[in-house]
Amino acid sequence: MESDFNSEYPSIDHLREKARKRMPGFAFDYLEGGCNSNINRQRNTDEIRAVQLRPYYIGDYAGADQRTELFGEIYAAPFGIAPIGLQGLMWPRSCEILAEAAAANNIPFCLSTVGTASIEQIAQITGGRAWFQLYHPVEDTLRDKLIARAADAGLPVLVILADTPTFGYRPKEIRNGLSIPPRMTLRNIGQMLTHPAWCAGQLAAGKPEFATMKPYIPKGLDMKHLGLFMNKTFSGRLNEDRIKALRDLWKGKLVVKGIVTEEDAEKVIALGADGLIASNHGGRQLDAGQSTIRPMTHLAKKYGDRITVMLDSGIRTGPDIACGLASGAQFTFLGRSFMYGVAALGKKGGLHTIFMLKRQLQQVMEQLACARVTDFPNHLIQEETSR
Ligand SMILES: Cc1cc2nc3c(=O)[nH]c(=O)nc-3n(C[C@H](O)[C@H](O)[C@H](O)COP(=O)(O)O)c2cc1C
Repeated sequence: MESDFNSEYPSIDHLREKARKRMPGFAFDYLEGGCNSNINRQRNTDEIRAVQLRPYYIGDYAGADQRTELFGEIYAAPFGIAPIGLQGLMWPRSCEILAEAAAANNIPFCLSTVGTASIEQIAQITGGRAWFQLYHPVEDTLRDKLIARAADAGLPVLVILADTPTFGYRPKEIRNGLSIPPRMTLRNIGQMLTHPAWCAGQLAAGKPEFATMKPYIPKGLDMKHLGLFMNKTFSGRLNEDRIKALRDLWKGKLVVKGIVTEEDAEKVIALGADGLIASNHGGRQLDAGQSTIRPMTHLAKKYGDRITVMLDSGIRTGPDIACGLASGAQFTFLGRSFMYGVAALGKKGGLHTIFMLKRQLQQVMEQLACARVTDFPNHLIQEETSR
């Protein structure tokens, strides 16, 4: 709705700048960080912006329709909210705020296993329409319990993660000693006390916790042991046996996130996945990796009729979404952008960010004379994107 829009913050850059001022440094560093030297994070956005689109000016045009069909659902726009861990640490109640905004706007919200609201809370907020992203547990019993909870809550899509076989090397996180709750170094305490809106929000919301994982975390663990417990509980590396077992267990749609090569695409298609997200975790895992837009046209052309091909990493604007769709993605996700929105504007940040992105995308569609989301590939300038 127009009333959701705050004209002081007409871009993600404006929201990011405001968020940087309102968040304690350790929380902003966690949100912002790529890995190593942040090269892959930057490359994602730079290379989306190297894509160019062709407008058709002469002719009649009935208007733009952003509605997008995905896995049998009609969503109001071709973008959704990517799973983010520790959301409530970055901004109080941000996990719930974004789920509410997604539900109000009929776009998908994906909850992370290490999010700060539970599967059941998010299912309630979204009327059972959220997606759930599973970090693969070491123990099959925990895997089965989490999947059963997502199924009982009626969630339609399970997302499993291919791109975190190991922890990303993130220098700022290492220096800040990031954990939940944050490590009480003098520096971290100083940063909290100098950010009163964040502090007040945390006091009102209560200590952030891994709400989905809470039943399985031994009571009374101190910070160091909580970190060790989480490390021991999840094993990031996916293999074919694990995907096969998940495919057998999960009756809903199965999406593998983090697929950027033909080799992996072939495997997940053969194992019966319904969708893949070409993602590199927003550049948080492999600094020497490709941008995700680079393999997109090829993956979409080769596999788009066998599996739903989606895209994330580096998207910050309506034109970025348009370039992803023109390159063949059937849907897109944004991670940091939504968190900047909530950290900047609190409760209203989710609604504002969704409205703003839809408005930016609408302008691009009208400018191009692109009537439907599925028409975007007709506007791709091939010379610029053949890779
Ligand atoms: C702070 C942060 C935490 C994240 N946590 C998760 C997570 O728990 N699970 C997951 O699948 N992806 C996680 N991601 C990756 C996002 O789902 C998404 O792939 C990424 O943010 C997209 O890039 P963008 O931020 O440039 O839009 C995280 C990303 C960030 C920035």
